[in-house]
Amino acid sequence: MSPADRPTPVAPPRSATGATGRTTHLSAEIVERARSLIALYPEPRSALIPLCHLAQEQDGWLRPEAMADIAELVGVTPAEVYGTATFYDMLHTEPVGTYLVSVCTNIACLLDGAAELLEHAEESLGVNVGATTADGVITLEEAECLADCDRAPCVQVNHRYVGAQTPESFDRLVADLRAGTRSDEIPSHGTLIRVRRTTGLQADRRQVADERAATAEAQARRAAEAESAGGGS
Ligand code: FES
Repeated sequence: MSPADRPTPVAPPRSATGATGRTTHLSAEIVERARSLIALYPEPRSALIPLCHLAQEQDGWLRPEAMADIAELVGVTPAEVYGTATFYDMLHTEPVGTYLVSVCTNIACLLDGAAELLEHAEESLGVNVGATTADGVITLEEAECLADCDRAPCVQVNHRYVGAQTPESFDRLVADLRAGTRSDEIPSHGTLIRVRRTTGLQADRRQVADERAATAEAQARRAAEAESAGGGS
């Protein structure tokens, strides 16, 4: 069966029982969005990362039940979803606070006070790097270069730049986050994008399948020729 002929695995609606006998965790709205995303790709598994972001939007992090649902939706195992999620910094397999505060400590920021800023952040928040404040609002993380080196030391909140920070401005930032005065500009963790993608690859699925088959055939032919050349020597 060619990839184009393969049926798209779908999850049952919420509160229905899936093929695995469990109730789905993802909401009906998220499952609907997931199906739309899957339809944009020639292969369902290509939507794995966008679906992880969707699940993260629902729960703030990737719960095991959500990963199981994603696995069922795209036709892979939960372990493959977990393996993919743990590879990417923006996907979290542990609970994260409402605001993920990332402080870059790479070279440009380090030279401009990042280590001191991070130390101050740990002290003022009362948590170590990687931990979440007791009120569940802030998770502090140390980050590699965030590509904003000219505004060092660089800080992001929920993957949005908030400019270079001093210890004083950092405390004001945290107070603003706790007071919710920046919620328009910095939505809760998990809200990656506000504009939804609605168009997929423009390539014809049948053409993609044919090209893949031709590539596989050419590889097999070259392997057979190499083997026969090796046998004759
Ligand atoms: S070194 Fe900190 S943003 Fe590049």
